Amino acid sequence: MIELQGVTKRFGSFAAVRQVSLHVSRGEIFGLLGANGAGKTTLIRMMCGILKPTEGTGTILGWDMIRDQQTIKENIGYMSQKFSLYPDLTVEENLRFYAHVYGVRQPVAERVESLLREFELTGVRKTRVSELSGGVRQRVAFASAIVHEPPLLFLDEPTSGVDPLTRRAFWEMLYQMADRGTTIVVTTHYMDEAERCDRMAWMNRGRIVAEGSLAELRRRFAPRVGNRKATLEEMFVYAMEEGEDHDGQDVG
Ligand SMILES: Nc1ncnc2c1ncn2[C@@H]1O[C@H](COP(=O)(O)OP(=O)(O)O)[C@@H](O)[C@H]1O
Ligand SMILES: [Mg+2]
Repeated sequence: MIELQGVTKRFGSFAAVRQVSLHVSRGEIFGLLGANGAGKTTLIRMMCGILKPTEGTGTILGWDMIRDQQTIKENIGYMSQKFSLYPDLTVEENLRFYAHVYGVRQPVAERVESLLREFELTGVRKTRVSELSGGVRQRVAFASAIVHEPPLLFLDEPTSGVDPLTRRAFWEMLYQMADRGTTIVVTTHYMDEAERCDRMAWMNRGRIVAEGSLAELRRRFAPRVGNRKATLEEMFVYAMEEGEDHDGQDVG
């Protein structure tokens, strides 16, 4: 579903993403973990066909990241960090709008109805998005991102500012989608969410410093932390600090 080789993005002389190589298979939930400014959003925007890499190559759903940006954009789902809903439109109007944008095959009214039901939004269908609570707005944003039933979904901090119960329900939904074959790339600050991913990559200053399942990462990092039962957070912090030591050798 995703195959990246040496992908770099520079803004002027500053490299926001450096030499990222990545492989994500069908039905995986893949997490991107990193502090603010690590480059997660920039990397996601390149994989969504919104930004062109400065260097490197890659394919998304088999399409070329550089040549086929438009096709990629139309075939993936993207829930951006700042939800791109129209605050003055109602829930229903937002869903209808995105159904048209993505050229949903099924009749739009039908698809919108089924999303309203699936996400328990029928009660707020006529409510303006600006009047919704964070958790409900998140559901609308998510429904908008999957209106065209994309096989590949990018979620950029989808649960920031959402209460724990809502977060848990959100993850249940992600599991169900992954079980049905949807591939999901998700960024998060929350360690408990990262632990729920099949595999994850840790980003620091534009680079992927480690990648694997929690078990793989634990085999690699727990001995270095000096605790067989090291938590994800302890290992992650260790890897970030280790990265600082080698920073002098960084290029680009
Ligand atoms: N359009 C841009 N122009 C210049 N710098 C940018 C731009 N977008 C992001 N950056 C910088 O790139 C770095 C990575 O940002 P971002 O990808 O948003 O990180 P994250 O999502 O991990 O917080 C940050 O230092 C940010 O300021
Ligand atoms: Mg971000």
